Amino acid sequence: MSNVISNYIDAVRDREHVFDAVAPQINPNLDVRKGCILYMEDVSVSFDGFKAINNLNLYIDEGELRCIIGPNGAGKTTMMDIITGKTTPDTGTVYFGQKINLLQMSEPEIAQAGIGRKFQKPTVFEDQSVFANLELSMACDKRVLQTLFAKLSAEQLQHIEETLELVGLKDQRFLRAGALSHGQKQWLEIGMLIMQRPQLLLVDEPVAGMTHQEMDRTAELLISLEGRHSVVVVEHDMDFVRSIARKVTVLHQGSVLAEGSMDDVQNNARVKEVYLGE
Ligand SMILES: Nc1ncnc2c1ncn2[C@@H]1O[C@H](COP(=O)(O)OP(=O)(O)O)[C@@H](O)[C@H]1O
Ligand SMILES: [Mg+2]
Repeated sequence: MSNVISNYIDAVRDREHVFDAVAPQINPNLDVRKGCILYMEDVSVSFDGFKAINNLNLYIDEGELRCIIGPNGAGKTTMMDIITGKTTPDTGTVYFGQKINLLQMSEPEIAQAGIGRKFQKPTVFEDQSVFANLELSMACDKRVLQTLFAKLSAEQLQHIEETLELVGLKDQRFLRAGALSHGQKQWLEIGMLIMQRPQLLLVDEPVAGMTHQEMDRTAELLISLEGRHSVVVVEHDMDFVRSIARKVTVLHQGSVLAEGSMDDVQNNARVKEVYLGE
């Protein structure tokens, strides 16, 4: 048998081995016994002497849907950069569960450990079908090429079907991703993240540029992830946040200014002041 074929078979075996459950893939090192999936404590980072993150403390519970709001420049994106390993803080601790020290890990290692991130701008493979986009994203690592040629297992097919259903793109499965509306592309990208079975999902401004209808559908989608995944949503649109909010954290000048229900934070005098000043 040629090397190419035997490598191919190994890759398929390997793939079946990696993706053998439908629910999020549980990282064996992830210890959430205390119910907390993400800890950030006393985290600070400066850019050219400017403190973008200033003694930040943030705790996300397992299965929680948390909204993070705050004026422009509050440090929301930088906070996500720190969690995902893109930016290294000057001080502080960042843990995934009780045991996984994210500050000792590279960006790909963090993604592999179960933290998925959706950036503001959708980045789908425009020339591929919706289905192929989901298929490709199963192998977020270097095996994308093998994925193209390998046969899908029943489990993998089921996972794609469930994800198509979840993101409301069942009828668009054969459509070229480039032909989707802006909102549909955003949902496809959330689906692509789900295919990697992350336990913690970070979503940066998901409804920017969406129609009202698309925003409602996005709210439903994010709410449906609650419980199965932990989700942190950074968003500027207050109406949207209100429609999905459970616990809300307000960031300001790199620290937590207020935390609580949407009503709590909106009635908070300091929060009002900061938003009026914007
Ligand atoms: N790589 C960087 N270099 C210099 N300054 C940065 C960098 N990243 C962010 N900042 C600054 O840090 C502050 C926080 O930015 P950011 O996290 O993007 O805020 P937000 O997402 O809440 O709008 C801003 O003042 C921004 O200009
Ligand atoms: Mg930002």
